[in-house]
Amino acid sequence: MKGIILAGGTGSRLQPLTKVTNKHLLPVYDKPMIYYPLNTLVKAGIKDILIVSGRGHAGHFLELLGSGKNFGVNINYAIQEEAGGIAQALSLAEDFADNDSVAVILGDNVFQNDFIFSDFKDGARVYIKEVPDPQRFGVVTLDRDKITKITEKPKQPETNWAVTGLYIYDATVFDIIKTLKPSQRGELEITDVNNAYIQRNALEARKIKGFWSDAGTFESLYRASEFVRNSKQ
Ligand code: DAU
Repeated sequence: MKGIILAGGTGSRLQPLTKVTNKHLLPVYDKPMIYYPLNTLVKAGIKDILIVSGRGHAGHFLELLGSGKNFGVNINYAIQEEAGGIAQALSLAEDFADNDSVAVILGDNVFQNDFIFSDFKDGARVYIKEVPDPQRFGVVTLDRDKITKITEKPKQPETNWAVTGLYIYDATVFDIIKTLKPSQRGELEITDVNNAYIQRNALEARKIKGFWSDAGTFESLYRASEFVRNSKQ
């Protein structure tokens, strides 16, 4: 299995912090944000990792992380020319994946849990977490433990279960992305990818217990930093 960190996008919700640097290079307590998703993949035993970043600061990621040697992994880099959405960023990893399955993590997601991916066979897997503010996320509709639908940022969420930014896909994900149309906000949505797997009855959901936060707003960036600080006391 290969690993992919998606670190493109504009970081517009963190202006002016993101005016001259990239969101994923901002500090979450004592480390640059991208260290956290990188460590999540490294701890899961992934050895080959692709970082997809926007054009502006690609060189900074290279300076920070280099070949990956210090983390015991191989890091490759790809450029997303425009912020066309999470699924569009993922489509750039097709050659890198080379028909292998992929663990995909959003560059602004901080997880407490360690993960085991070795039991993944095919289809797709998402990790979900109960949150107080589901309208900020992709939200699942559940029938017992089975997901029947995911709705991206619903105004009136049907549940409190958010889809976190960690996904595992088999190699068919790249064919699914080719069938997608841009959403109302003009992006290829990862939620549409996941709904396509639901249609095929091939999406598995795992509930996570430990802390999880994105770090893409002032509040969530603050919360993620606070969690990391408190976990070191
Ligand atoms: O954090 C989990 C949530 O992430 C999910 O619950 C949502 O379903 C999913 O759509 C996403 O929601 P956000 O609106 O928070 O995503 P955002 O636009 O902030 O992008 C998250 C990361 O994805 C960002 O840190 C880098 C990467 N990204 C995003 C875009 C739009 C890219 O690499 N390229 C892009 O074009």
